[in-house]
Amino acid sequence: MPLLETRDLTRHFGGLAAVNHVDLTVEKGEIVGLIGPNGAGKTTCFNLLSGFLRPTAGSIAFDGEDITGRRPHQIAARGLVRTFQLTTLFQEMTALQNVLLGLHLHSGTGLRQLLFSRRDFPPDEVARGREALEFTGLAAHADQLTKNLPHGHQRVLGIAMALAARPRLLLLDEPVTGMNLDESGRVMDLVKTIRGHGTTILLVEHNMKAVMGTCERIVVLNFGQKLSEGTPSEVSTSRDVIQAYLGTGVNHA
Ligand SMILES: Nc1ncnc2c1ncn2[C@@H]1O[C@H](COP(=O)(O)OP(=O)(O)O)[C@@H](O)[C@H]1O
Ligand SMILES: [Mg+2]
Repeated sequence: MPLLETRDLTRHFGGLAAVNHVDLTVEKGEIVGLIGPNGAGKTTCFNLLSGFLRPTAGSIAFDGEDITGRRPHQIAARGLVRTFQLTTLFQEMTALQNVLLGLHLHSGTGLRQLLFSRRDFPPDEVARGREALEFTGLAAHADQLTKNLPHGHQRVLGIAMALAARPRLLLLDEPVTGMNLDESGRVMDLVKTIRGHGTTILLVEHNMKAVMGTCERIVVLNFGQKLSEGTPSEVSTSRDVIQAYLGTGVNHA
C-alpha cells in the first residue's frame, strides 16, 4: 500500500483548474520530487495534501486512510506534515521557542491561546524541540532570537519545526530555492538524512540540480495536470517536459 495516494485530485479557483485530475502516489521511504513551471499547481497540490485547501473533486489517502477534507491539524496528527515558510517564523522568539510553537500549530491549539497562556512548555516537548534542532544542526542556536539567525539557518528552522512533529511524510516546499551552492548542498544532505531516519519525502523545488541529485522519482505538473513521471534521467530527457520548461527561466544553478 502506498503511503500517499491521490485519485483525480482536482482544485478549481473560479474557472481555473489549478490542480486537474492528478493521480499521485508516494511509496514509503521514497524521496519524490514534484516539479513544473511556475503556476503548474505545485503549491496548490501541497495545500490540498496538508488540508489547507479542500479539493473540488478527487480523493487523498494517507497510509490507507481517506483524509480528503480533513483539517490541517488532523492530517498533521496522522504524520503528514508540511514545512513552515519563513513568514510563519516568529522573528522575536528563539529558535527553540519557534520549534515548540510549531509543535502546537500542528496539534491545533490556537496560536493566540498559546502566546498568551504564558505557561512553560512541558519537559518532554522541550526535549523533542531540542532533538529536532540537534538533528538539523541548529542546536548551538537554540536560544538565539530567530531574527539574528542567517537566512539559511532560518530556512532550516522551518524544517526543524516540521520535524518536531515527527512526520511520516514530510512535504518540503522549495527548501533550497535562493540558497547558494554550499547551503543548498547541506540542506539536500539533511533531506537525505531525514529519509534515512524513516521519513518519506515529497519535495517541490525549482533548483534542478538539487531535485535531480536527491529524488528517486519525479512527477512533473503542467497547467495543473500530470505531464510526466519517472526517474530523474527519464524526466529530464522527456520531450514534453523540456517543451514545458522552455522559456520559463528554470534555475539550473
Ligand atoms: N488562492 C488562489 N486563488 C486563485 N488562484 C490561485 C490561488 N492559488 C493559486 N492560484 C492559481 O493556481 C495556479 C497554480 O498555482 P500554484 O499552485 O501556486 O502553482 P506553482 O506552485 O506550481 O507555481 C496558478 O495559475 C495560480 O495563479
Ligand atoms: Mg509554488
